[in-house]
Order: sequence, then structure tokens, then C-alpha cells
Amino acid sequence: MHNVALVTGAPGALGKPIAERLARGGFAVALHYHSREEAARRLAAEIEASGGVAGPFRADVRSGAEVAAMIREVEKTLGDVTVVVNNAGLVRDRSIQKMTEEDWSVVLDTNLKGAFNVCHSVVAGMRARNHGRIVNISSIVGAMGNFGQANYAASKAGLIGLTKALARETARFGVTVNAICPGFMDSPMVNGVPAEVRQKLLEQIPLRRFGEPEAVAESVAYLVGPGGSYVTGQVLHVNGGMYM
Ligand SMILES: NC(=O)c1ccc[n+]([C@@H]2O[C@H](COP(=O)([O-])OP(=O)(O)OC[C@H]3O[C@@H](n4cnc5c(N)ncnc54)[C@H](OP(=O)(O)O)[C@@H]3O)[C@@H](O)[C@H]2O)c1
Repeated sequence: MHNVALVTGAPGALGKPIAERLARGGFAVALHYHSREEAARRLAAEIEASGGVAGPFRADVRSGAEVAAMIREVEKTLGDVTVVVNNAGLVRDRSIQKMTEEDWSVVLDTNLKGAFNVCHSVVAGMRARNHGRIVNISSIVGAMGNFGQANYAASKAGLIGLTKALARETARFGVTVNAICPGFMDSPMVNGVPAEVRQKLLEQIPLRRFGEPEAVAESVAYLVGPGGSYVTGQVLHVNGGMYM
């Protein structure tokens, strides 16, 4: 019987290496997706072809009912969820004067309420089984802010608060809750930024390069593995030294 890890936004730039790393670590991986069903199916097939166990599961994380139904489906198909990586997220960047209420709501509802919805659906089972690992993918921007990202920064800072509160609530039941704050990673989210802005960003990174998504995957593996068993309520920065 495998331990089951749920990765939200699994077909994404960070989600894919996280899911692959957890599969290599022996987890059956529930690959959550929202719109990219084909990519989720392809990733499941790749993981299975290399000897792992994985399946695609759909939900809009903004909906508590959809998330709860998805968790029931995962548990019926793969087994009890012991690890959750709340990775689904999006940006809707504009300076505050141009930011609409819709820009604000879609980012907060996806990045922050989405993680709440998933935690809300899995925590009772983890508590009952006296074991669980939750990793919330926040961002360097949640710690230091960023021009044009008031909505995104608020959502990612909120995730850090959620992480610490939930860590305190669940520790006595053997559940750890931590956040990872990636810096600027080599991914479409960062590659979509204009070249001159990318250059300015690079100048602010002591390691002088954007990070490999695999570095985030390795951090997740650490937090959910034996090395992370005494670590809870923490924020792990993976950012090339950009924020210290
Ligand atoms: N890339 C970076 O440099 C960086 C840095 C710091 C933090 N992060 C954070 O890391 C996480 C992953 O980023 P990424 O670069 O891998 O982004 P990505 O490639 O755009 O992947 C994001 C994932 O979120 C899912 N998603 C979006 N809206 C959703 C919704 N309403 N319901 C369910 N799922 C939804 C998408 O699902 P579908 O594709 O199926 O629609 C997609 O798989 C995000 O939380 C991001 O904020 C990224």
C-alpha cells in the first residue's frame, strides 16, 4: 500500500517536478489539475511508465465543494491522503490603480482560499490517522512584496499565516504544516516578464540565476520525508539569496 500525495496544479512548471519527485520517493501521486486535463493525463502516464503510481483528478480549488468531491475521489481510487502540496496558483499583475476587484478576487480565491479548501478537506482524516504533511507553496513575493503584485503578495503572505496557524492546530495530531517560498524560478511565470525586467531581477539574486523548479521539488521531498519530521510552522526560502 502506497502513501498518497496530492499535488495541486500538478501539470504546472513547479507542480510537475514536485509530482515526479514524490513519485520517485514512493508516493502514489494524485495529480490535481484545473483546465489542463491532457497534460495531467500525460504526466500520469509518464509516472506510471517509470514504475510509479499516479492519476489525474480535477477541481477548481476556488470551490470547497469541488475540492471535497475530488478528495473523496482520490481516497476511493488511491487511498488516504497523507501528503498535500498546495501548489495551484496564478498571477494577475497590475499596479493598484489599475487592479480590478476581479483581479483581486481571482488571485486571493485561487492562491489562498484554494489552499484553505484543500486543508479543510484533508485535515480531519490526517488528525484521525495521527499523521499528515502539508506543504504550502507561497512565494518570495509574500515575504518582500513586489511592484504590481498587491493581490499576489497578499495571497502569498496569507498562505504563510495559514501555514503557521494550522501548524499550531494540528501538531499534536502528528500533522506538520510548512511553507516554501520559491524565488524567481526558470518557468513560464518568470519567462513571461519583459527581458529588461528579467535582467534587473537577475542583478538582485546573489546566485545570479533563476532557480530550477527541481530545487523546489527537493525542498518538498525534504519537508515530507524523515528529515522534515520535526519541522513545522516554518517558511523555507528557496531563492538564490534574493531575500534573506
Ligand atoms: N514560477 C515561479 O517562479 C514561482 C515563484 C514563486 C512561487 N510560485 C508559486 O508556485 C506555484 C506554481 O507556479 P508555476 O510557475 O508552476 O505556475 P503554473 O505553471 O502556471 O501552474 C499553476 C497551476 O495552478 C493551477 N490553477 C490555476 N488556477 C486554478 C484553479 N482555479 N483551480 C485549480 N487549479 C488552478 C493551474 O492548473 P491548470 O493548468 O490545470 O489550469 C496550473 O497547473 C504557484 O502557486 C506560484 O504562485 C512560482
